[in-house]
Parts: sequence; structure tokens; C-alpha cells
Amino acid sequence: MGNKRAVIFMIAFSLIVVPAITMAFSMKSSGTQNIADGAAVYKFITEKDPYTKWPLWPGKGKLYKGQHPHGALLTTYVSKKAVKTITKKRGAFPNGTIIVKENYMPDKKLAAVTVMYRVKGYDPDAGDWFWAKYKADGTIEKEGKVKGCINCHSAQIMNDWVFTGPIK
Ligand code: HEC
Repeated sequence: MGNKRAVIFMIAFSLIVVPAITMAFSMKSSGTQNIADGAAVYKFITEKDPYTKWPLWPGKGKLYKGQHPHGALLTTYVSKKAVKTITKKRGAFPNGTIIVKENYMPDKKLAAVTVMYRVKGYDPDAGDWFWAKYKADGTIEKEGKVKGCINCHSAQIMNDWVFTGPIK
């Protein structure tokens, strides 16, 4: 009798409790943070936590002069956690960091928005950065482990893949 109850308990446990725990964990991790998906990231940075209210890259104003291939004029925002990495020269951005750079034409018309988003475990060979490029209206132009972005930014591996300023 005791054995039978134990077996029933084991079956019930594996059918109900295990899936419930698994579901709870997957729901917890789906809050857009740590989801490397261009549409979800855009929604997050424009609706859930609008980047235009984030701090600018410390020491950079709005519409500063950029280089090829980014815009003639740039405005770069960083998620709050990233500010101290730059000001205190901590050497590496924490997981979840988002850097949003607006790329403007010389006439100050917004041409594109480029994003770097650190997702732990996403791409260990390329600094675990998720890359995305959006048109001014939010249409995704490129997203993911984008070779072009990675190749050029790899010149800055020693600076956690970023160009705008030293973080070490
Ligand atoms: C040919 C080189 C090159 C390529 C390709 C390139 N970048 Fe950049 N990126 C730069 C440089 C240089 C800067 C510094 C800003 C400036 O002065 O233009 C920069 C800055 C940035 C920044 C601000 C953080 C930082 O690194 O300073 C982001 C975000 C960014 N790029 C995203 C992207 C994305 C996304 C792509 C691919 C769609 C991309 N970049 C492709 C050279 C490149």
C-alpha cells in the first residue's frame, strides 16, 4: 500500500510540480530583459523604459560629431547601470546593459538607431553583445550576431567592444 502511494506521489510530482516550476522560471525570465530579439528590444527601449529618458553617455552631449559608418551626428544613451561602468572605468558593462545610439544626417534628421545589448551567454565569442539596427520608424534593419557590427567593433575588444570612450 505504502509503495503504491509513493508511486502515485512520484507520478503526480513529475506531472504537476515539475512543469509548474519550469513554467514559473521561464515566465520570470521573459520580462524582455535578457531576450535577444530585435522587436522585443525595440518595444522595451521605446515603450517600457524609453531610452530618451536615460542618461547620455557621460561626457557626450547631444548631436556630437560621429564617424563612418554611423551618422554625421550622434546622440548616445546608456542604461542606468552602465553609467558607473564608464565614469568609474570599471572595464566591463554589466549584464543587461543597453547602449542606444541615434544616428543623424547632417541636417539633423534621424537616420537610424543602433543598439548594443549585453545578454549573458548570448554570444561569448563576441562579448555577449546583441546588435540591432533600426530605421527611424523602428523597422528592423539588422539584428542578432551581426557580422558587420562585430567585425568593426572587435577593434575595441579591450574596451568591452565600445568606441565612444575609454571604460578602463
Ligand atoms: C566600420 C566600423 C563600424 C561598424 C561596421 C559598426 N560600428 Fe558601431 N561604432 C563604430 C564607431 C567608430 C563608433 C563610435 C561612434 C562614432 O564616433 O561614430 C561606434 C559606436 C557604436 C555604438 C555606441 C557604443 C560604442 O561602441 O561606442 C553602438 C551602440 C554601435 N556602434 C552599434 C553598432 C551596430 C548595431 C552596428 C551594426 C549594425 C555597428 N555599430 C557597426 C564603428 C562601427
